[in-house]
Amino acid sequence: MVCLGNICRSPLAEGIMQHLADKQGLNWEIDSAGTGDWHVGQGPDRRSVRTAGEHGIDISRQICRLFRRSDFDEFDHILAMDRSNLSNILAMARNANDANKVSLLLVDQIVPDPYHDDRQFEPVFNLIEEGCHAFIDRYK
Ligand code: 4NP
Repeated sequence: MVCLGNICRSPLAEGIMQHLADKQGLNWEIDSAGTGDWHVGQGPDRRSVRTAGEHGIDISRQICRLFRRSDFDEFDHILAMDRSNLSNILAMARNANDANKVSLLLVDQIVPDPYHDDRQFEPVFNLIEEGCHAFIDRYK
């Protein structure tokens, strides 16, 4: 799960996907990363932690890190929150195999950055949850 800062959207996406996959008994390993390095080493934004907590998901122990090329080797799917994240990740792909792992979490929709608007965290949670349900239905 990749967004820009790895403090708002992708930590939610990691927590939600892991929660839903675990609930279905899927042995999936989910992680998240950002394409920007401002918050590396920090925990998620407190608004994301609170929103996830209200839905029974604890994301408080996640630590922000940068997306790295080795993620193409470590993971089968790399899901971007918006088109800017998508193109930043694709710019790091070494070959077509890397590039083929990359897509938007939502098929034809972006997950907007909620960083500057507290009210967007709940709708962003719901959008990500919708995308995770669809992904699990497709790949489980
Ligand atoms: P995120 O939100 O990409 O959903 O984690 C952002 C968080 C921080 C910044 C940008 C986006 N920032 O510029 O610090």
